[in-house]
Amino acid sequence: MNLRDEEILRELKLYPLWVRRDLPVEASRMGGGAADTHQESPAVAELVSGAVEAQQTAMGIASLNPSCSWLELKQKVRDCTACQLRAGCTQTVFGVGDEKAEWLFVGEGPGADEDARGEPFVGQAGKLLDNMLAAIKLKRGANVYIANIVKCRPPDNRNPEADEIAACLPYLQQQIALIKPKLIVALGKVAATSLLGRDATLGSLRGTVHDFHGTPLIVTYHPAYLLRSPAEKAKAWQDLCFAVQQMK
Ligand code: URA
Repeated sequence: MNLRDEEILRELKLYPLWVRRDLPVEASRMGGGAADTHQESPAVAELVSGAVEAQQTAMGIASLNPSCSWLELKQKVRDCTACQLRAGCTQTVFGVGDEKAEWLFVGEGPGADEDARGEPFVGQAGKLLDNMLAAIKLKRGANVYIANIVKCRPPDNRNPEADEIAACLPYLQQQIALIKPKLIVALGKVAATSLLGRDATLGSLRGTVHDFHGTPLIVTYHPAYLLRSPAEKAKAWQDLCFAVQQMK
Protein backbone atom coordinates (compact mmCIF):
# COMPACT_ATOMS: atom_id res chain seq x y z
CA MET A 1 0.00 0.00 0.00
CA ASN A 2 1.43 3.39 -0.89
CA LEU A 3 1.52 6.24 1.58
CA ARG A 4 -1.33 8.20 -0.02
CA ASP A 5 -3.66 5.20 0.10
CA GLU A 6 -2.73 4.66 3.73
CA GLU A 7 -3.39 8.35 4.47
CA ILE A 8 -6.84 8.17 2.84
CA LEU A 9 -7.77 5.12 4.90
CA ARG A 10 -6.41 6.68 8.09
CA GLU A 11 -8.35 9.88 7.44
CA LEU A 12 -11.51 7.83 7.05
CA LYS A 13 -10.60 6.00 10.26
CA LEU A 14 -10.55 2.75 8.28
CA TYR A 15 -6.92 1.75 8.76
CA PRO A 16 -5.53 -0.82 9.47
CA LEU A 17 -7.65 -2.89 7.17
CA TRP A 18 -8.48 -6.55 6.90
CA VAL A 19 -7.41 -7.60 3.42
CA ARG A 20 -9.68 -10.10 1.75
CA ARG A 21 -7.90 -13.44 1.23
CA ASP A 22 -9.52 -14.00 -2.14
CA LEU A 23 -7.99 -10.85 -3.65
CA PRO A 24 -5.27 -11.57 -6.21
CA VAL A 25 -1.75 -10.96 -4.90
CA GLU A 26 -1.27 -7.95 -7.18
CA ALA A 27 -4.49 -6.34 -5.95
CA SER A 28 -3.68 -6.98 -2.33
CA ARG A 29 -0.39 -5.09 -2.81
CA MET A 30 -2.55 -2.16 -3.78
CA GLY A 31 -1.31 0.18 -6.36
CA GLY A 32 2.46 0.02 -5.85
CA GLY A 33 4.10 2.24 -8.45
CA ALA A 34 0.89 3.80 -9.72
CA ALA A 35 1.89 6.80 -11.83
CA ASP A 36 -1.22 8.90 -11.17
CA THR A 37 -0.84 10.13 -7.62
CA HIS A 38 -4.37 11.60 -7.66
CA GLN A 39 -6.06 8.29 -8.36
CA GLU A 40 -6.22 5.55 -5.79
CA SER A 41 -5.79 2.05 -7.26
CA PRO A 42 -8.95 0.07 -8.10
CA ALA A 43 -8.03 -2.34 -5.30
CA VAL A 44 -7.94 0.49 -2.79
CA ALA A 45 -11.20 1.90 -4.12
CA GLU A 46 -12.77 -1.55 -3.65
CA LEU A 47 -11.32 -1.96 -0.19
CA VAL A 48 -12.29 1.56 0.84
CA SER A 49 -15.87 1.10 -0.29
CA GLY A 50 -15.97 -2.35 1.36
CA ALA A 51 -14.51 -0.91 4.54
CA VAL A 52 -16.93 2.02 4.48
CA GLU A 53 -19.79 -0.48 4.22
CA ALA A 54 -18.33 -2.53 7.08
CA GLN A 55 -17.93 0.61 9.18
CA GLN A 56 -21.46 1.73 8.37
CA THR A 57 -22.79 -1.67 9.41
CA ALA A 58 -20.75 -1.51 12.62
CA MET A 59 -22.14 1.96 13.31
CA GLY A 60 -25.68 0.63 12.93
CA ILE A 61 -26.43 2.64 9.81
CA ALA A 62 -29.33 0.96 8.14
CA SER A 63 -28.16 -0.19 4.74
CA LEU A 64 -30.53 1.36 2.27
CA ASN A 65 -32.63 -0.78 0.05
CA PRO A 66 -31.69 0.13 -3.54
CA SER A 67 -35.38 0.59 -4.33
CA CYS A 68 -35.97 2.86 -1.30
CA SER A 69 -38.64 5.45 -2.21
CA TRP A 70 -38.44 9.20 -1.56
CA LEU A 71 -40.92 8.79 1.27
CA GLU A 72 -38.92 6.01 2.97
CA LEU A 73 -35.69 7.91 2.48
CA LYS A 74 -37.11 11.13 3.96
CA GLN A 75 -38.37 9.16 6.96
CA LYS A 76 -35.00 7.44 7.42
CA VAL A 77 -33.17 10.75 7.35
CA ARG A 78 -35.66 12.35 9.75
CA ASP A 79 -35.26 9.44 12.21
CA CYS A 80 -31.49 9.06 11.81
CA THR A 81 -29.31 9.07 14.92
CA ALA A 82 -26.32 7.33 13.33
CA CYS A 83 -23.84 10.02 14.36
CA GLN A 84 -23.45 12.63 17.05
CA LEU A 85 -24.59 15.54 14.87
CA ARG A 86 -28.32 14.85 15.32
CA ALA A 87 -28.11 15.47 19.05
CA GLY A 88 -26.80 19.00 18.48
CA CYS A 89 -29.05 20.25 15.69
CA THR A 90 -32.64 21.45 15.51
CA GLN A 91 -33.74 19.29 12.60
CA THR A 92 -32.37 17.33 9.68
CA VAL A 93 -32.06 19.18 6.38
CA PHE A 94 -32.93 16.67 3.69
CA GLY A 95 -32.52 18.59 0.44
CA VAL A 96 -34.77 20.63 -1.79
CA GLY A 97 -35.80 20.92 -5.39
CA ASP A 98 -36.95 19.08 -8.43
CA GLU A 99 -36.77 15.36 -7.71
CA LYS A 100 -36.20 14.71 -11.40
CA ALA A 101 -33.61 17.47 -11.84
CA GLU A 102 -30.78 17.22 -14.35
CA TRP A 103 -28.63 19.42 -12.10
CA LEU A 104 -27.64 18.42 -8.58
CA PHE A 105 -25.69 20.89 -6.44
CA VAL A 106 -24.08 19.44 -3.32
CA GLY A 107 -22.81 21.52 -0.41
CA GLU A 108 -21.17 20.57 2.84
CA GLY A 109 -23.79 20.72 5.57
CA PRO A 110 -26.46 22.98 7.05
CA GLY A 111 -25.48 26.18 8.85
CA ALA A 112 -27.54 28.06 11.43
CA ASP A 113 -30.10 29.42 8.93
CA GLU A 114 -30.58 26.04 7.27
CA ASP A 115 -30.88 24.33 10.66
CA ALA A 116 -33.64 26.77 11.60
CA ARG A 117 -35.51 26.57 8.27
CA GLY A 118 -34.93 22.90 7.38
CA GLU A 119 -33.82 23.83 3.85
CA PRO A 120 -30.30 23.88 2.36
CA PHE A 121 -28.59 27.12 1.35
CA VAL A 122 -31.07 29.69 2.67
CA GLY A 123 -28.56 32.04 4.35
CA GLN A 124 -26.04 34.45 2.78
CA ALA A 125 -24.22 31.62 0.98
CA GLY A 126 -27.59 30.46 -0.31
CA LYS A 127 -28.32 33.89 -1.77
CA LEU A 128 -25.06 33.74 -3.64
CA LEU A 129 -25.83 30.19 -4.81
CA ASP A 130 -29.19 31.42 -6.15
CA ASN A 131 -27.33 34.17 -8.03
CA MET A 132 -24.85 31.65 -9.40
CA LEU A 133 -27.80 29.55 -10.61
CA ALA A 134 -29.44 32.60 -12.17
CA ALA A 135 -26.19 33.41 -13.98
CA ILE A 136 -26.55 30.15 -15.91
CA LYS A 137 -30.34 30.57 -16.26
CA LEU A 138 -31.21 28.07 -13.55
CA LYS A 139 -33.51 28.46 -10.59
CA ARG A 140 -33.79 26.60 -7.31
CA GLY A 141 -36.47 23.96 -7.71
CA ALA A 142 -36.69 24.06 -11.51
CA ASN A 143 -34.54 21.26 -12.96
CA VAL A 144 -32.24 21.82 -9.96
CA TYR A 145 -31.90 19.85 -6.73
CA ILE A 146 -29.79 21.08 -3.81
CA ALA A 147 -28.47 18.80 -1.08
CA ASN A 148 -25.62 18.53 1.38
CA ILE A 149 -23.05 15.90 2.32
CA VAL A 150 -24.34 15.84 5.91
CA LYS A 151 -27.99 16.43 6.80
CA CYS A 152 -27.41 17.80 10.31
CA ARG A 153 -25.70 21.03 11.28
CA PRO A 154 -22.17 20.52 12.62
CA PRO A 155 -21.71 22.58 15.81
CA ASP A 156 -20.06 25.99 15.45
CA ASN A 157 -20.01 25.56 11.68
CA ARG A 158 -17.07 23.18 11.89
CA ASN A 159 -16.40 20.80 9.00
CA PRO A 160 -18.10 17.42 9.33
CA GLU A 161 -15.82 14.65 10.62
CA ALA A 162 -14.97 11.59 8.52
CA ASP A 163 -17.25 9.30 10.56
CA GLU A 164 -20.15 11.77 10.24
CA ILE A 165 -19.63 11.91 6.48
CA ALA A 166 -19.47 8.11 6.29
CA ALA A 167 -22.69 7.86 8.30
CA CYS A 168 -24.58 10.33 6.10
CA LEU A 169 -23.25 9.60 2.61
CA PRO A 170 -25.58 6.64 1.92
CA TYR A 171 -28.52 9.04 2.14
CA LEU A 172 -27.05 11.31 -0.51
CA GLN A 173 -26.15 8.29 -2.62
CA GLN A 174 -29.77 7.20 -2.47
CA GLN A 175 -30.95 10.72 -3.35
CA ILE A 176 -28.67 10.61 -6.38
CA ALA A 177 -30.00 7.17 -7.35
CA LEU A 178 -33.56 8.53 -7.21
CA ILE A 179 -32.91 11.86 -8.96
CA LYS A 180 -30.58 10.43 -11.62
CA PRO A 181 -29.08 13.86 -12.38
CA LYS A 182 -27.14 14.47 -15.58
CA LEU A 183 -24.50 16.41 -13.67
CA ILE A 184 -23.41 16.79 -10.06
CA VAL A 185 -21.78 20.08 -9.06
CA ALA A 186 -19.78 19.69 -5.86
CA LEU A 187 -19.57 22.99 -3.97
CA GLY A 188 -16.26 23.21 -2.13
CA LYS A 189 -13.60 20.85 -0.96
CA VAL A 190 -15.63 18.91 1.61
CA ALA A 191 -18.36 18.07 -0.91
CA ALA A 192 -15.86 17.22 -3.64
CA THR A 193 -13.53 15.04 -1.59
CA SER A 194 -16.39 13.27 0.20
CA LEU A 195 -18.04 12.34 -3.09
CA LEU A 196 -14.80 11.42 -4.82
CA GLY A 197 -13.51 9.46 -1.82
CA ARG A 198 -10.05 10.98 -1.90
CA ASP A 199 -8.25 14.01 -0.60
CA ALA A 200 -7.10 16.68 -3.04
CA THR A 201 -6.96 20.44 -3.26
CA LEU A 202 -10.01 22.13 -4.72
CA GLY A 203 -7.81 23.77 -7.34
CA SER A 204 -6.59 20.40 -8.60
CA LEU A 205 -10.16 19.10 -8.92
CA ARG A 206 -11.56 22.03 -10.93
CA GLY A 207 -11.83 21.93 -14.71
CA THR A 208 -12.16 18.14 -14.96
CA VAL A 209 -15.20 15.95 -15.36
CA HIS A 210 -15.01 13.36 -12.59
CA ASP A 211 -17.14 10.28 -12.27
CA PHE A 212 -19.49 9.57 -9.38
CA HIS A 213 -20.69 6.00 -9.90
CA GLY A 214 -21.48 6.75 -13.53
CA THR A 215 -22.71 10.34 -13.06
CA PRO A 216 -20.43 13.16 -14.28
CA LEU A 217 -19.31 15.42 -11.46
CA ILE A 218 -17.60 18.78 -11.60
CA VAL A 219 -16.15 20.84 -8.77
CA THR A 220 -16.33 24.53 -7.96
CA TYR A 221 -15.88 26.83 -4.99
CA HIS A 222 -18.30 26.84 -2.10
CA PRO A 223 -20.42 30.04 -2.11
CA ALA A 224 -19.42 30.77 1.51
CA TYR A 225 -15.77 30.77 0.41
CA LEU A 226 -16.67 33.11 -2.48
CA LEU A 227 -18.28 35.51 0.00
CA ARG A 228 -14.96 35.62 1.88
CA SER A 229 -12.83 35.69 -1.28
CA PRO A 230 -14.82 37.56 -3.94
CA ALA A 231 -11.79 37.70 -6.23
CA GLU A 232 -12.30 33.96 -6.84
CA LYS A 233 -15.76 34.54 -8.30
CA ALA A 234 -14.26 34.75 -11.78
CA LYS A 235 -12.98 31.19 -11.41
CA ALA A 236 -16.36 30.03 -10.16
CA TRP A 237 -17.90 31.59 -13.26
CA GLN A 238 -15.45 29.60 -15.43
CA ASP A 239 -16.54 26.45 -13.60
CA LEU A 240 -20.21 27.21 -14.18
CA CYS A 241 -19.57 27.76 -17.90
CA PHE A 242 -17.68 24.47 -17.93
CA ALA A 243 -20.66 22.79 -16.26
CA VAL A 244 -23.08 24.25 -18.84
CA GLN A 245 -20.87 22.88 -21.65
CA GLN A 246 -21.13 19.39 -20.14
CA MET A 247 -24.91 19.55 -20.35
CA LYS A 248 -24.95 20.19 -24.14
N1 URA B 1 -23.38 25.71 3.43
C1 URA B 1 -23.57 24.45 2.97
O1 URA B 1 -22.63 23.76 2.62
N2 URA B 1 -24.81 23.99 2.91
C2 URA B 1 -25.85 24.70 3.26
O2 URA B 1 -26.97 24.19 3.17
C3 URA B 1 -25.63 26.01 3.73
C4 URA B 1 -24.40 26.50 3.82
